[in-house]
Amino acid sequence: MDLDIPRHIAIIMDGNGRWAESRRQSRIRGHEQGAESVRAITRECARLGVEQLTLYAFSNENWKRPRAEVSFLMRLYQRYLIKERKEIMDNNIRFINIGRTEVLPGYVQKELQKTIAMSAENTGMLMCVAINYGGRVEIMDAAKRFAAEVKAGTHEVDDLDEELFAKYLYQPSMRDPDLLIRTADEMRISNFLLWQLSYSEIWVSPICWPEFREEHLMKGIEAYNQRIRKFGALKT
Ligand code: IPE
Ligand code: IPE
Ligand code: MG
Repeated sequence: MDLDIPRHIAIIMDGNGRWAESRRQSRIRGHEQGAESVRAITRECARLGVEQLTLYAFSNENWKRPRAEVSFLMRLYQRYLIKERKEIMDNNIRFINIGRTEVLPGYVQKELQKTIAMSAENTGMLMCVAINYGGRVEIMDAAKRFAAEVKAGTHEVDDLDEELFAKYLYQPSMRDPDLLIRTADEMRISNFLLWQLSYSEIWVSPICWPEFREEHLMKGIEAYNQRIRKFGALKT
């Protein structure tokens, strides 16, 4: 059977801590191992012909975690960005990000910018990392930018429709996710892509992110293929 490959897959990579704790290891080991899953899943998505992959790496709310865990995560993103640059280039991946990056440590911002610039001309899969991202803040930021343009006289309030509003989001060219995957059996959105997920198919895996591999992704794609997307209309 020929599978319909979702054009945009978004993933809430969850369960790093639980995976580590179940093996009597520190949560940090779970995050480290999670980076291996990012590599495997990114490569597989590129191979399958997925057009866009969006990964939730750090939420606006994750600052509430212990300082040591947050610092470790920041250093891990820095290391990931340096180490995986070759992999990104070899797979012709164009790397972008969403989120309020301006408050991230300088060493993370620097590596993000380098990876974005280096891969800007790549023509393969678009890989978007959500880091210091929150859906509510994204919508609020968009509203502020539109309001500023109204104030400046560039737009009238009545110009606003869904299509125009979407242009003020962090990555206006991003299509809405077709499939949202969340790992570690958690059935919530946790402030991810609130605008863009309106009609995405949601699939939850019991597998914790550090163990999530190609075969699990395939299960998600198979489940997606069983869904009937209606967008509010009737089944055709
Ligand atoms: C996801 O794993 C990684 C981040 C949120 C950065 P968690 O760290 O949330 O793992 P659990 O949910 O505690 O198991
Ligand atoms: C969502 O996971 C954020 C990321 C995966 C980066 P969390 O583990 O932070 O979400 P909650 O707190 O369980 O909702
Ligand atoms: Mg979690």
